[in-house]
Amino acid sequence: MASIVRKLRRENKTVGFVPTMGALHAGHLSLVKESRQMSDVVVVSIFVNPTQFGRGEDFEKYPRDLTTDAGMLADYGVDYVFAPERDEVYVEGYSTFVTVEGLADSLEGASRPGHFRGVATVVTILLNTIRPDFAFFGQKDGQQVAIVKRLTKDLGFETEIVVSPTVREESGLAMSSRNAYLGAETREKASVIFRALREAKIAFKNGERNASRLAEIARKIIESEPLAEIDYVSVVERDSLASVDNIEDKEAMIAVAVRFGGVRLIDNVILNRKQ
Ligand code: PAJ
Repeated sequence: MASIVRKLRRENKTVGFVPTMGALHAGHLSLVKESRQMSDVVVVSIFVNPTQFGRGEDFEKYPRDLTTDAGMLADYGVDYVFAPERDEVYVEGYSTFVTVEGLADSLEGASRPGHFRGVATVVTILLNTIRPDFAFFGQKDGQQVAIVKRLTKDLGFETEIVVSPTVREESGLAMSSRNAYLGAETREKASVIFRALREAKIAFKNGERNASRLAEIARKIIESEPLAEIDYVSVVERDSLASVDNIEDKEAMIAVAVRFGGVRLIDNVILNRKQ
């Protein structure tokens, strides 16, 4: 992969890169489309990264279907699918890890210790291998976006990070490979997450700037669904992830994690988005 992109760069082609763990859906494909529009060559990686899964999480049962994924990517005009084996990414004796301090400890990081150390490490390895002009990430994983932006700045990667909006099912539920674990009925009920975020956003548009009151609006709606167990509903600054009391003109994110049965779902909306 490294030698292919080295050659492409010598030919002055721009390279767009979309890192994924496979089990592709319309959310991933929106990143691919964006990359197709912005770059001469599109590389998509498919790698279920073991270091970002905690003990007892779903690494073993995470859906894997390279044939279907590769077929979809061909339909979207992807030039290269990079699907490395574990020991190509983590070479024998591997012992280097990237931790993005501060940003990785709250929200998802609090519930999934070590998760973002795994994400930051694999993203560093992939960016270093491919050295793309652009790398595409989904707003669905808002904390991941903040962490990846921080790490590329800190480590001097020249890759521009491009963020695409969350793609949703008709019900409003954010698309996720993990939605496959939900039964049809639960999947429908999980759309309460989106309704809650939407109500909070409406309240914000109507002038509510108090972060805890906005969080409370979302929390109450989610709590009205008996199957939902809230992990967190937090209002934070979009980039620093610092908690906010009064949003005023800050770019903020309402981020939630909710468990439905055994399945943990995350979602967020941005308030005060600057163009
Ligand atoms: P994965 O969950 O496969 O997601 C790959 C990319 O697709 C991420 O940038 C994610 O935010 C984006 N994505 C997922 N669902 C989306 C949706 N509904 N709308 C828009 N974008 C969506 O995120 C990972 O993999 C991994 O952590 C990875 C970055 C590949 C590192 O292993």
